[in-house]
Amino acid sequence: KLDVTWATDRAAMAELAAAYVCASLGDGLTTSLALPTGDTPIGMYECLAERRRRGEVSFRNAKLFNLDEYAGMSPENPRSYHAFMRRHFIDHIDVPSQQVRLLRGDAPDAAEECRAYDRAIAAAGGIDLAILGLGANGHIAFNEPGVPWDLDTHVVELDRRTRQAHRPNFPDEASVPRIGVTMGIRTLKAAKKVLLLCAGEGKREAMAALLAGREDHAWPVTSLLGHKGLSILAEEALKPC
Ligand code: GLP
Repeated sequence: KLDVTWATDRAAMAELAAAYVCASLGDGLTTSLALPTGDTPIGMYECLAERRRRGEVSFRNAKLFNLDEYAGMSPENPRSYHAFMRRHFIDHIDVPSQQVRLLRGDAPDAAEECRAYDRAIAAAGGIDLAILGLGANGHIAFNEPGVPWDLDTHVVELDRRTRQAHRPNFPDEASVPRIGVTMGIRTLKAAKKVLLLCAGEGKREAMAALLAGREDHAWPVTSLLGHKGLSILAEEALKPC
């Protein structure tokens, strides 16, 4: 039985997600978090920053990782996920900088960066809570349809639908990245808890695949089915009629 919470709208979803994260951090067991980019989690980050300002939560003991990054992109590029994480979240909270490890898209040796990232995750004791968004094509992080489900951090060719979805963030089609670096499904499934955030009209098909409850390699999100710590938070607009 899937644990699905339907939020009336994006604002409610942001509050619920932030409350879930704060409760998790407060349990004394959750310290390492994997964090998503995209439009969906922005409200959650705002709520968390607001709760931090009010002194309701602290990230002093948190270890933060991001899920993915565009390959070849430097952290200084404002379009990078690195910059996104700083702008929307990390710059607004009290996490010590040595406890933040974001994937480097511009590492000279991408394979070595992936291995180093996996070592950092292992050194943190694995991921306690992975917060995920959902791609229109059913991807989680940059685990695209058809990718093997037994990978840790790896380099991946971005799917046509992913590149389409990212097109508005770039000046023209040619500049949309073709390659990404991402935590793999094995790492995500090994997380003690997973909070999956689903919002946006384009996610209807992916959501339906998930709710169908069958593992399907064409819809990477279905790899999470059977995860005991999976919680799904979705906007009500995506509820099947
Ligand atoms: C990107 C990221 C994913 C994210 C997805 C959804 O492709 N790589 O990690 O979940 O976008 O984005 P949005 O929340 O903007 O719909």
